[in-house]
Amino acid sequence: MAYVLLETKGHVGIVTISRPKALNALNADVLNDLSNVFTQVAKDDNIYVVVLTGEGRSFVAGADISAMRDMTAVEGQEFAALANSTFLQIENLAKPVIAAVNGFALGGGCELSMACDMRIASEKALIGQPEVGLGITPGFGGTQRMPRIIGYGKAMELILSTRKVKADEAYAIGLVDKVVPHDQLMDEAMKLAESIAVMPQVAVRQAKLCIRKGMQADINTALAFESEAFGLCFSTEDKHESMSAFLEKREAKNFKNR
Ligand code: HXC
Repeated sequence: MAYVLLETKGHVGIVTISRPKALNALNADVLNDLSNVFTQVAKDDNIYVVVLTGEGRSFVAGADISAMRDMTAVEGQEFAALANSTFLQIENLAKPVIAAVNGFALGGGCELSMACDMRIASEKALIGQPEVGLGITPGFGGTQRMPRIIGYGKAMELILSTRKVKADEAYAIGLVDKVVPHDQLMDEAMKLAESIAVMPQVAVRQAKLCIRKGMQADINTALAFESEAFGLCFSTEDKHESMSAFLEKREAKNFKNR
């Protein structure tokens, strides 16, 4: 893949968007590469958790403005559809995805981080939705995911004013979950990823699914999703092993993820 790299450390897949000369701006080629890499990640049974980051001083500085300037309305819609299907692949991936926001996360970059399950930011991160200033709305999910993550009023303010926030404010408003010194970003993201990768993965994946699906549903439907997932976990060998280990006052043995 020319623009998106995948490496594996233990059970963690590290996906790096690599178009540093354009601050990792997303054009159709980058989006297609990202989609192909996430298809690969979904199929790879050795990968339990994913860390997504950008090469150089930017996570993603947005959709590619040079590609968008002369697009027609139909081309704009097609471009948004390509990004939306790619970001939904991340959201719907059974495995958890952590965004390690290493710098600019603007426009489509902020939207990409919000499609991930968790966000850790470097102190150097700068995050926002500048689209309205370019005469467009956010088009890769920003108007929908941002209010779900940080609430209506704050999302409205940031999207309409296009004000960018630094890492500390992003943390204060819940747009990122943790801020760490720049040189510790990948270590911290890996630490979080590894703490999830050692868990029984059926439970991890069912919990992600419940949170994701439940957030879109009414409380009765959402609780039914949870009961179903909870019940399903009772059929796993890992549940039996972890509960037996607790009762027998010993460490749980290697999980089988089934
Ligand atoms: C294309 C971009 C780009 C972008 C940066 N570059 N962002 N190219 N699309 N979104 C390119 C620059 O043109 C430049 O190329 C190189 O990357 C380095 O950028 P500089 O501007 O020289 O760096 P700096 O002065 O440090 O400023 C960094 C920056 C600024 C603050 C991030 O680049 C910036 O404001 N970029 C645009 C951010 C933005 O508006 N993003 C939202 C896009 S709209 P050269 O060749 O000159 O070296 C969007 C919509 C999503 O995302 C939905 C669409 C449907």
